[in-house]
Amino acid sequence: MGCAAGEPAALRDVTEGGGIARATTGPEDAVTASGGMRAAVMRRVGGPEVLAVADVPLPGAADGQSLVDVTYAGINFDDIERRAGDGPTPELPAVLGVDVVGRRRRDGRRVVVLMRHGGGYAQVAAATDAHSVEVPDDISDEQAIGVFEQGATAYGALTLAGRVRPGESVVVSAAAGGVGHLAVQLAVALGARPVIGIASTEAKRAFVRDLGADHALEPGADVRDVTGGRGVDLVIDATGGDSTRALLGGVALFGRLVSYGWRAATPDRGVVTVSTEDLTDRSIGCAGFWMRHVVDDRPVLEAITDELFGYARKGLLHAHIDRIVPLDRVGEAHAAIADRRTTGKVLVDVRREG
Ligand SMILES: NC(=O)c1ccc[n+]([C@@H]2O[C@H](COP(=O)([O-])OP(=O)(O)OC[C@H]3O[C@@H](n4cnc5c(N)ncnc54)[C@H](OP(=O)(O)O)[C@@H]3O)[C@@H](O)[C@H]2O)c1
Repeated sequence: MGCAAGEPAALRDVTEGGGIARATTGPEDAVTASGGMRAAVMRRVGGPEVLAVADVPLPGAADGQSLVDVTYAGINFDDIERRAGDGPTPELPAVLGVDVVGRRRRDGRRVVVLMRHGGGYAQVAAATDAHSVEVPDDISDEQAIGVFEQGATAYGALTLAGRVRPGESVVVSAAAGGVGHLAVQLAVALGARPVIGIASTEAKRAFVRDLGADHALEPGADVRDVTGGRGVDLVIDATGGDSTRALLGGVALFGRLVSYGWRAATPDRGVVTVSTEDLTDRSIGCAGFWMRHVVDDRPVLEAITDELFGYARKGLLHAHIDRIVPLDRVGEAHAAIADRRTTGKVLVDVRREG
């Protein structure tokens, strides 16, 4: 394989570094010598057009890593922020993509992998074994990657951080999104009632109701209106800013809010400050959740993934796949997510172009 026309040099290496996977430049024949692959490479911060497919050498597998022939890579909101320069800027050129599903070369097993440092938008990934989980035969590639990273985030936020109990009321913000649509289904499966989803359009709210939510409200709505004035026991929130403040105001006495995300594009990054006085005033609690801490704890990662696959098997959890784009149209998918046009999970089929 040669370089795309106009490439100054081939990309020589895609390895896990200190941040996002970095693709360094090198001599063009290095691609051919190492056996190359196709990857969507980001060379600069900017719009979706900065993601361009190129021939790059295969990644090297370090100790504790295995090469995986990728079927699908997930597109996560974090990728959109990094590409746009709203999140931590990766060392460039870089290959984004933090979750993949595919076949591990050393044993032929199907695995889902959390690629902490990126490298997912590529035909072959150097997967850290401790961050890889085998996929049971009765779970499809699409469902495995659909419920894995975003499902573990939803499940961790509801259970590890939110300590949800059956019969409690739960509100999920951004409920039509990749994490949110799984959080709605999991809250229902865990026995929460009522389950309330927040989404910005009527079409998204209809989707959220179809997922099993008892109510679907627009951002900024007062959840006390659908809970007899009492408020909700648990808020699972990834929006930040005014909508988080509105949701905080609707937390019932002894209720909790779990924050797992915000919007890096806003000047204050959407971070909401809560004082101990605020907490004591209404006997409420605030907690945070970061998937990284699940990934760092292998028994917890395995236990949560088992639960997710179990719910999927019973039909209680289904990843809605909004679209699957070929590798050279990953930018289009980025634009759709940034424009809030997607529901559920967005995948890249790294084996296809055109
Ligand atoms: N803590 C963790 O470990 C962890 C793990 C994964 C993801 N996250 C975070 O969780 C959040 C959701 O991730 P995701 O993968 O589910 O994202 P997603 O599928 O893109 O969903 C995000 C949702 O956010 C809403 N939204 C609100 N303001 C937006 C804006 N300015 N631009 C685009 N969307 C906006 C949209 O719903 P509406 O149009 O209905 O408002 C959209 O459906 C992100 O902030 C992400 O960084 C955190």
